[in-house]
Amino acid sequence: MNTEQISNLIAHRRSIKPALMDSVKPISRELWQTLFEAANWAPNHGLTEPWRFLVYSGESRASIATALQAAYTSETAAEEFRPEKFEKMGKNPFLANSVVALVVKRDPKRKVPEVEEIEAVACAVQNLHLVASAAGLGVFWSSPAVTYGPSFAQSLELDEADKCLGLLYIGWPKDGQEWPVSKRTDAMAKVSFK
Ligand SMILES: Cc1cc2nc3c(=O)[nH]c(=O)nc-3n(C[C@H](O)[C@H](O)[C@H](O)COP(=O)(O)O)c2cc1C
Repeated sequence: MNTEQISNLIAHRRSIKPALMDSVKPISRELWQTLFEAANWAPNHGLTEPWRFLVYSGESRASIATALQAAYTSETAAEEFRPEKFEKMGKNPFLANSVVALVVKRDPKRKVPEVEEIEAVACAVQNLHLVASAAGLGVFWSSPAVTYGPSFAQSLELDEADKCLGLLYIGWPKDGQEWPVSKRTDAMAKVSFK
C-alpha cells in the first residue's frame, strides 16, 4: 500500500452539493456494494457493527422529502417556521440520485457506550465517502436539526434506541462539473507532542 496515494485520496475527498449532482445518472449495484463493503470495514468497539444505511432512490426519495417536511413542521415553533426552508426540504432529495439515511443501530446488550457506536458509524461514513471520491462519485453529508429529532426517526421506522445521524446525498457530479476545492488550517497547529 502506498502512503502517498492514500494521503492524496484523503485530501481529495470533497463534499459535493446535491445541486451539483446529476439526479438520474445511475449508480451501479456493484458500486453500491463496493461503497457499503468499505463502510463495513470501519473500526467498531466490541464488533457491534452499528451502522445501518437506508437507501432512497427514484420514487422513494419522496418519503425522505415528506419526512423532512413533516419533522420540520412538527418541531418548529410557528414564529420560527420559514416557508422557503420547508420548500427546500421537499425538493433537495430529488437533486441527488439517492439519499442515504445514516442510522446507528444500538446493540441490544449495550456492550459499549452510545458515543462509541456513533463514532463507529461516522468512521463507516468516512470509509464510504473516500471510496466514492476515488470513483468520482459525489457525496454530501447533510444534518439539518430535524434529522436528529423524534419525528424523523419515527418516519424512518427506527427502533426507540436507534439514532439517525443525518442524510448522505449521493450522485455523479453533473457533466462538466469541476471537483470542488477546500482548505484546512495547519494540521500541526492542532497537535502537541507531550
Ligand atoms: C457530521 C457532519 C454533518 C454535516 N452536516 C452538514 C450540513 O448539515 N450542511 C452542510 O452544508 N454541510 C454539512 N457537512 C459537510 C461539511 O460542510 C463539509 O465536510 C465541510 O464543508 C468541509 O468540506 P469537505 O467535506 O469538502 O472537505 C457535514 C459534515 C459532517 C462530518
